[in-house]
Amino acid sequence: MVGDGADILSDVVSSQVDIHSRYGGIVPEVASRQHLITALPVLESAMSEAKASWQDIDAIAVTIGPGLAGSLLVGVNVAKAVALAHGLPLIGVNHLEGHIYANWLSQDKPIFPCLCLIVSGGHSDLVLMRGHGEFEKLGRTRDDAAGEAFDKAARILGLGYPGGPAIEQAARGREASFPLPRAWLKGSHDFSFSGLKTALLHLVRDNDFSDSSKIAEAAASFQQAVVEVLVTKTIQAAQKLKVEQILLSGGVAANKALREDFICNSPVPVLIPPPSLCTDNAAMIAACGYHHYRLGKIDGYDIDVIPSLSIG
Ligand code: KG4
Ligand code: ZN
Repeated sequence: MVGDGADILSDVVSSQVDIHSRYGGIVPEVASRQHLITALPVLESAMSEAKASWQDIDAIAVTIGPGLAGSLLVGVNVAKAVALAHGLPLIGVNHLEGHIYANWLSQDKPIFPCLCLIVSGGHSDLVLMRGHGEFEKLGRTRDDAAGEAFDKAARILGLGYPGGPAIEQAARGREASFPLPRAWLKGSHDFSFSGLKTALLHLVRDNDFSDSSKIAEAAASFQQAVVEVLVTKTIQAAQKLKVEQILLSGGVAANKALREDFICNSPVPVLIPPPSLCTDNAAMIAACGYHHYRLGKIDGYDIDVIPSLSIG
């Protein structure tokens, strides 16, 4: 629950990581069933943590996409039921816009125009934001998203799921000793990580990786390659566009190496939400929903999910 789009009154996250890690990745059917089981208890916890009653609520915000259809359907239908039952306005939120709005939940507020880098399990988008609700997509990934690349690299290295935190942990304090390629895609704001992933696969396949310190060095090399491309291309775009700030968001923005590299190297001020607000959470959706509400962008009770929704 969020007040005035900026104050977190409660933020309850029910993680499914332990369930999906058994399968080495997200199983869509399992995910939607788990959403069904946890949706109402999570809602009740959020209300009680905030010590709120339904009279205190102005509107219900819910993610309509992008994401897995089954899980989105559970969320949207629970939100519809609650909004209808309490006579509250319903606001459908783009998950990617929600990630950006995690930056409004921190002490330092964003200043427009800003350049937003969203790096999650499904997206690596570079978006110019000139005002609330005004998004222009400048770049995207041409193949794997940054988070997807981390997850696949961790699988190649036998480090488990989710791959981002596993690679980060393995790489800590290790030298990035393997020369892995970077796709710069000169003249474009797009990203590409599949070549890097394939290079890592060949490296592991063609060499003796039975020594765990080699695995750790490969993890550090992979992480450094992803970080270098994300940081360099984003800073270049920010300077070219003369934006006031760079806003990071999405699960990969929880990565310490990425956060530190941006802070150390960017001449443009960088805002990064705390790690818990980078990975998926409801507070960011509420923060984004607040700005829809303020602008009068209310949806009907017949809204539907859009699994392939994009931004801008
Ligand atoms: O935004 P998010 O929680 O969910 C999606 O919308 O996809 O992002 C999840 C992605 C996963 O691919 C995960 O491996 C990655 O974010 N991730 C990280 C870290 N924590 C999560 N990647 C690198 N370093 C991390 N510490
Ligand atoms: Zn997300």
